[in-house]
Amino acid sequence: MAKKLKIGLIGTGGIAQSCHIPGYQSLPDECEIVWACDTNEEVAKKVAAEHGIANVTTNYQDVLSDASVDAVSITTPNKFHKQPTIDSLKAGKHVLCEKPLAMNGPEARDMCKAARDSGKILQVALQQRFSGAGQFMRKFIADGGMGEIYYARAQALRRRGVPAWGVFIDKEQQGGGPLIDIGVHILDFTLTMMGYPKPVSASGMTWDTLGKNPELYNMWGDYDRTKFTVEDMAVGFIRFENDAVVVLESSFMSNLDGNPYGTQLFGTKAGARMYFDQQFKGLEIYTEQNGQLFNMTPINVPDVKSPHTEEIVAFVRAIQSNGPSPVPGEQGLILNAIFDALYKSAETRTEEKIDVSF
Ligand SMILES: NC(=O)c1ccc[n+]([C@@H]2O[C@H](COP(=O)([O-])OP(=O)(O)OC[C@H]3O[C@@H](n4cnc5c(N)ncnc54)[C@H](O)[C@@H]3O)[C@@H](O)[C@H]2O)c1
Repeated sequence: MAKKLKIGLIGTGGIAQSCHIPGYQSLPDECEIVWACDTNEEVAKKVAAEHGIANVTTNYQDVLSDASVDAVSITTPNKFHKQPTIDSLKAGKHVLCEKPLAMNGPEARDMCKAARDSGKILQVALQQRFSGAGQFMRKFIADGGMGEIYYARAQALRRRGVPAWGVFIDKEQQGGGPLIDIGVHILDFTLTMMGYPKPVSASGMTWDTLGKNPELYNMWGDYDRTKFTVEDMAVGFIRFENDAVVVLESSFMSNLDGNPYGTQLFGTKAGARMYFDQQFKGLEIYTEQNGQLFNMTPINVPDVKSPHTEEIVAFVRAIQSNGPSPVPGEQGLILNAIFDALYKSAETRTEEKIDVSF
């Protein structure tokens, strides 16, 4: 059997506890979490005690100087993704970095360069492609079922869903609002289905009136409206090198019915509608055969209990087999570069070019 991988957690907050720890612990014979690192020592100690993690620190350099550590999960707020990732790669560790890869394109570019220079795996934690419907559609598309996908409409919209905890309303620590926090998931999912075409330009707009309004209800409790420095809604029109287009809509607050979260794909042979209700079980495919129109509902969608666990299993397998990264840093860079263009376009009111070279 292959050697047991030793894992360090850099950041032991919400996502580390709910997803990364259970993910690694689903493979007890293949990996072991040996470090819990958090600038909040109390949290790190509590998590270590609860999960039998041997070492605790508030300084991630301690994790990196442990030669036995093979890989780390970077599960810190967005502002603290770049430096720990670059330092970890330089120290010869494989990295699974939470989404979004970075605050912006230039940071993501530096992280991709570090991964290339180190020869280590940089995986972005974007789990939705590992969902049952995600796996089903990837195969259907790879087998030619959709033809060429030339257009998609992606939505991550909430009616009154501002995260009232953490730093999600603070542009300085997050890099942006719903676009970078939840739009990132649905855009990644959509681009995965489209084969990750290269973006060339984008036009976008953002608003913040609702998010700053102290009179409005929020389903996750109150927050300080004077500290709301991100957008409450963003929309974008993104062009790709292959002439495909994606229209993206994302909100923490907007006046609409429900919280639609999903994507519609338009291909030359078929279309598909994939909305998150219990892991995209709302999947439908629209096609034509012999002059007759069909709406198809697949029935053998893989039963994936946790896309997060699948993502971590994929990370471990990639390390064991020496790559490639299941969700490469380059795709995280594409997403960050698109968001940069949309935010810039919202200021300049013009279409902005996108550069994803590194
Ligand atoms: N993939 C998903 O579906 C998903 C879901 C939620 C959050 N996230 C991402 O996970 C990241 C963390 O989010 P969260 O909800 O767990 O936040 P959190 O606030 O619950 O946890 C972050 C932890 O990082 C610690 N920390 C901050 N700076 C640090 C540093 N320099 N070194 C070590 N520890 C540090 C904090 O003390 C905190 O305990 C964010 O990037 C977020 O976008 C992803």
